[in-house]
Amino acid sequence: MSLSSNVLLGLLAAVSQLHHASPMAFPAPLLEERQASTVPDFVSTYAPLVWLYSGETYFPSDIGAQLDHTKPEVNFDVITGYPMPLTLNNLDSLNADNGSQVYLTSVDNIVTNPAWLNGVKPDSTGKTDGAVSVAIIVNDRGNGEVDAFYMYFYAYNWGGTFLGEDVDDHVGDWEHNMIRFQNGTPSQVWYSQHSFGEAFTYDCLEKQGVRPFTYSGNGSHANYAITGTHDHTIPNVDLPGTGILTDYTDQGTLWDPLLSAYFYSFNADANTYTAYNSSYPTAWLQFVGQWGDEQYPNSDKRQHEVIPGISATAQYSGGPTGPEDKQLNRTAVCPTASGYVCDIRTSLTS
Ligand SMILES: *[C@@H]1O[C@H](CO)[C@@H](O)[C@H](O)[C@H]1NC(C)=O
Ligand SMILES: *[C@@H]1O[C@H](CO)[C@@H](O)[C@H](O)[C@H]1NC(C)=O
Ligand SMILES: *[C@@H]1O[C@H](CO)[C@@H](O)[C@H](O)[C@H]1NC(C)=O
Ligand SMILES: *[C@@H]1O[C@H](CO)[C@@H](O)[C@H](O)[C@H]1NC(C)=O
Repeated sequence: MSLSSNVLLGLLAAVSQLHHASPMAFPAPLLEERQASTVPDFVSTYAPLVWLYSGETYFPSDIGAQLDHTKPEVNFDVITGYPMPLTLNNLDSLNADNGSQVYLTSVDNIVTNPAWLNGVKPDSTGKTDGAVSVAIIVNDRGNGEVDAFYMYFYAYNWGGTFLGEDVDDHVGDWEHNMIRFQNGTPSQVWYSQHSFGEAFTYDCLEKQGVRPFTYSGNGSHANYAITGTHDHTIPNVDLPGTGILTDYTDQGTLWDPLLSAYFYSFNADANTYTAYNSSYPTAWLQFVGQWGDEQYPNSDKRQHEVIPGISATAQYSGGPTGPEDKQLNRTAVCPTASGYVCDIRTSLTS
């Protein structure tokens, strides 16, 4: 294939969008412990409502069920010496040895599209009935500043197409909104998308009552503030129309994340999580590994690179890290990521 340099630049920009945000280490824990006993009212009052795409087939999924369908592997070998069965109450035990290299790997061959990948379609009330598919994590930063993270879990990411071929499919998908509150009033909202995302003032967002809408991209579940087609070839820019990489959003199925969620407070200094309800598991939040299969090597007959030799264009990419890797004590409403600026948009179309 011969490519002009402009096309090549576009391709490289697109390829960079296929990667996930890089990890950020937390400093050593301190002893101070702040505990909150009830979820602050405003965290629920202003919680986002998520519109899933009308053509979506990979719905939100039960976080704990992912452990029933996977086994932990390092370098494609099943590891041993961990508690059986793995649950959300002991998943952090995988951190002990090579924790960040652990991939929760499907026990089924995913090309057979096992039913659990499809998750649970929200019912007429917006609930993923029987599936706890959201973790809401509250970080009280002091001086009236509170960040609420709404972490959405999907068992599978269908990455869309790139030059007409499937790309960036992977087991496990964590996406999120974050709302920054000042004295209980929402000020700014973060929408995660691929390697970065977009930030908006709360005031400019589309809402139902006071709850902002999030539009989840078909398959990729990248979060947008508007419906339509999203050419996301250029990082951090949501262009109308279709491009080399395109997400689709519309008002398909309404999902209310509050109805099937675990709620936690996060203490950044101690790096600890406290459940608002003692029946919610907490150990899993410390797990530093990946929630899906490691990227299959080219020697695996399931694998295919759209551009041969460029592994970021592989049909199957690796699974993502979980909430602990999402910069829960970030300074700006955006996470920090090299090469990106935090542009807080005051209009949906700017
Ligand atoms: C939406 O995703 C499904 C796979 O889940 C795919 O088959 C379909 O083509 C996608 N639709 C669009 C418009 O991309
Ligand atoms: C960590 O991974 C390396 C490379 O795969 C392996 O050689 C080593 O034995 C692992 N260590 C432990 C403690 O499992
Ligand atoms: C968390 O953020 C607060 C406010 O910016 C800062 O004072 C504190 O040092 C941070 N904690 C950690 C562990 O980074
Ligand atoms: C705590 O969670 C359990 C199980 O989901 C539920 O039955 C109970 O009502 C919850 N308690 C409170 C105080 O919300």
